Amino acid sequence: MTPSYHQNVTVITGASSGIGEALAYELAGQGAWLALAARRLDQLEAVAAKCRSLGGRAIAVECDVTQQADCERLIQGTVTEYARVDTLVNNAGITMWSRFASLKDPALINQIMQVNFLGAVYCTYYALPHLKQSRGRIANISSMADKIITPGSTGYVASKHAMEAFYESLRAEVADDGVSITMLYLGFVDTGFAGRMLGADGKPSGGISRRLEGTQQMTPADSARLIAATTFARRRTVYTSVAGLPGWLFPWLKVLAPNLLERVGKRFMDEGDL
Ligand SMILES: NC(=O)c1ccc[n+]([C@@H]2O[C@H](COP(=O)([O-])OP(=O)(O)OC[C@H]3O[C@@H](n4cnc5c(N)ncnc54)[C@H](OP(=O)(O)O)[C@@H]3O)[C@@H](O)[C@H]2O)c1
Repeated sequence: MTPSYHQNVTVITGASSGIGEALAYELAGQGAWLALAARRLDQLEAVAAKCRSLGGRAIAVECDVTQQADCERLIQGTVTEYARVDTLVNNAGITMWSRFASLKDPALINQIMQVNFLGAVYCTYYALPHLKQSRGRIANISSMADKIITPGSTGYVASKHAMEAFYESLRAEVADDGVSITMLYLGFVDTGFAGRMLGADGKPSGGISRRLEGTQQMTPADSARLIAATTFARRRTVYTSVAGLPGWLFPWLKVLAPNLLERVGKRFMDEGDL
């Protein structure tokens, strides 16, 4: 059987490490034609080389998704190389771990919104005409943090919530063009992301890493397989489990038992040194 992503032209933002890197290898193994984007070009080139050795095609494009012109160049470069875009994976992201009132500068919230929300919006804007032509797919990597109540991550959950609202609207706009939008709400994935959470001073703080010790986390490879399969199947929404409970339960709990969720979230924050 031909693998799903054989010759599928897929753009992945945030492909220099973590989930994006693992997804690049998963799709390359299926023969995808990849455009890999991130700021660290050296890392990206190494990922692209490994993708080629796995049977895919791959280009590395230095791109800061907060820069609109970079996002335009990423999509143009993809079309120049492969003549189309079939799939866009908005994965680039940063996060925080600090009480809002402790922030040295609230501009950190702006920084997170720029990467996680506007970065996805810009890439989508430039890819959309091509995705309409190919009746393609968009995957957005969100977080279960948006579905539970997560004090200590105000800017992060706001950025993922904005993503959800934006793509709900856009999904209806592009439905008749055959473009699907898959929202993936992932629980903890073992990428070291937690250690890079930006603290009160806007610099990476390992605080929450200690709280996560012993917590069950998905492997990047498992998350990559999930993203690949559900996006290909044009699933609308994908949740992963949290603390042994199915992820789809949490939006209901937020409505039915918000105080309970808030207490659990607050305990998690207190235990995470905030
Ligand atoms: N790990 C988890 O537990 C978890 C759970 C739920 C959701 N997620 C989501 O999964 C996504 C990937 O996270 P990860 O765990 O794989 O973390 P990661 O290893 O830190 O990867 C983040 C990626 O985003 C890129 N990036 C950051 N800022 C960027 C910018 N301004 N422009 C372009 N690329 C940028 C980074 O590359 P450069 O630094 O080279 O630019 C890197 O490739 C994020 O959206 C995150 O919210 C993660």
